[in-house]
Amino acid sequence: MYIDTHCHIFDCAFDSDRIEVINKCQEENVKKLIVVGFDKETNKLALDLSNTYDFCYPTVGLHPTNLDDYSDNYFLYLENLIKENKKIVGIGECGLDYYWDKSKIDLQKEVFKKQIELSIKYNLPLIIHSRDAIGDTLEVLKSVGKPLIGVMHGYSGSLEMAREFIKLGLKIGIGGVVTFKNAKNVKEVVKELDLSNFVLETDCPYLTPTPYRGKRNAPYYIPLIAKEIADIKGIDIKKVEEATTNNANMLFGGRLL
Ligand code: NI
Repeated sequence: MYIDTHCHIFDCAFDSDRIEVINKCQEENVKKLIVVGFDKETNKLALDLSNTYDFCYPTVGLHPTNLDDYSDNYFLYLENLIKENKKIVGIGECGLDYYWDKSKIDLQKEVFKKQIELSIKYNLPLIIHSRDAIGDTLEVLKSVGKPLIGVMHGYSGSLEMAREFIKLGLKIGIGGVVTFKNAKNVKEVVKELDLSNFVLETDCPYLTPTPYRGKRNAPYYIPLIAKEIADIKGIDIKKVEEATTNNANMLFGGRLL
């Protein structure tokens, strides 16, 4: 069985057929879904889905492009959610994004650091978003000076940087981008690093793997990502399935029951 370690099935792209999509995941052997929130509204939607479906597990956080939601008590609110909801399996989506808005870099870093602290305090893995900010992302993570757990979500950086994140204790999240012809970096990362470093994710409804690129993404496409990894490494897809599921189960520390 597969685990999609990063999906947004609360997105309105699924409003017309969410139940069918979720059921199809089970049929396609994608048996567990980590539903990633990124602001107050989506944290709640992720929690609601996890209350409805046993195999959906929520994460809660604040995304660097959603800082309008930020206030002094945001972290108290996050902490209360964590205490009240035993099913929460991670912190995030959090991180740095200099692509959309470079005007609040200091605040982005502060909000990211606070979520790293929560991850350490509650022993919950971080779901890390990094866009056009990979150097600063590494620097902030390093500055904490403690062992970390989490995923570099939708990783598209260099092999060298991937090794740095792995040294900190993080896994590399591989998504649909690995199937794109021009995804040189990700293909190299997959080729050179051991399977023990990877978890699979769709980030749906975005970043749909080939041959459905441009259409809506969904967790049941996870096997297409596994197939590409198997082809790049010249191994059986079964090995990719077993290793990445095992990695996800270890990372989320037995919370995916
Ligand atoms: Ni995402």
